[in-house]
Amino acid sequence: MRVKDKVAIVTGGAGAIGGEISKLLAREGARIVIADVNNEASSRMLAELKRLGAEAVAVDADVIKIAEAERLVRAALEQFGQVDILVNVAGGSTGPSIKTKMDLFARSEKTRGEEIVRLNLLAPINCARAVINHMMERRTGAIVSISSTAGVIGMMKGVEYSAAKAGIYGMTVTLAKEAAPYGIRVNCVSPGIVGTERVRKMAPDLIPQWEKGIKLGRLAKPEDIANAVLFLVSDEASYITGQNIIVDGGLCLGPEGY
Ligand SMILES: NC(=O)c1ccc[n+]([C@@H]2O[C@H](COP(=O)([O-])OP(=O)(O)OC[C@H]3O[C@@H](n4cnc5c(N)ncnc54)[C@H](O)[C@@H]3O)[C@@H](O)[C@H]2O)c1
Repeated sequence: MRVKDKVAIVTGGAGAIGGEISKLLAREGARIVIADVNNEASSRMLAELKRLGAEAVAVDADVIKIAEAERLVRAALEQFGQVDILVNVAGGSTGPSIKTKMDLFARSEKTRGEEIVRLNLLAPINCARAVINHMMERRTGAIVSISSTAGVIGMMKGVEYSAAKAGIYGMTVTLAKEAAPYGIRVNCVSPGIVGTERVRKMAPDLIPQWEKGIKLGRLAKPEDIANAVLFLVSDEASYITGQNIIVDGGLCLGPEGY
């Protein structure tokens, strides 16, 4: 077991990618704290984690809010006494925290930037801030945040989202420098296009075209992302910090034949 007895907080842990990460960490021996605003989905995920034999709790926390990120970490400490791993997954360009619509920048609503940056950049910062002193005191910890290839090559109708996801890289490398003397590693994972139900419903006509542009010929599965996260939080990555692992099947490699 690669993360036996570690305690992992997974924000957005009831979602497609966060759920897969939670289940994989649980199978590898971790105790899981899922944090999500979707209580129904959280209850379902909690039941799945328990079926896998994991010790797990679900906390209803809106991690956009500093006080809720702090409450989340307090709840994890009360339940399990320690936090070894933080995986920042809550995010996206749609979903329960986002009221504005995805659109071309020239047409997008004025408040979209604030909304998207709060969820995709400030929420991971809030959670890292809430847990960092505890990790520093214990002189151990691993933080992984889910960014996106949108932060590297951009994404149509995603100016605000791409900017926020690129910001995750800045947070990652800087926190990696500050936390390294305390034995804490900080990394991020940038998925390409993940074939979740939401993505497949959002753009069914575009999927064949997207698949053609991906060197490995298919969208990512949530498991592909979970595998990278597991590696980064495990001892196998004990000499890796401040990195961005792109898990995109070659989406970022450029045009055919070049
Ligand atoms: N799906 C993709 O193609 C893709 C690609 C690249 C990156 N990502 C990133 O991966 C992450 C997960 O995406 P997903 O496809 O699993 O989406 P998802 O919508 O299935 O999961 C996101 C989860 O976060 C929760 N959430 C939303 N706002 C929250 C808040 N304020 N506090 C706590 N929880 C909150 C939602 O309830 C949901 O369960 C996101 O950060 C997204 O930007 C996704």
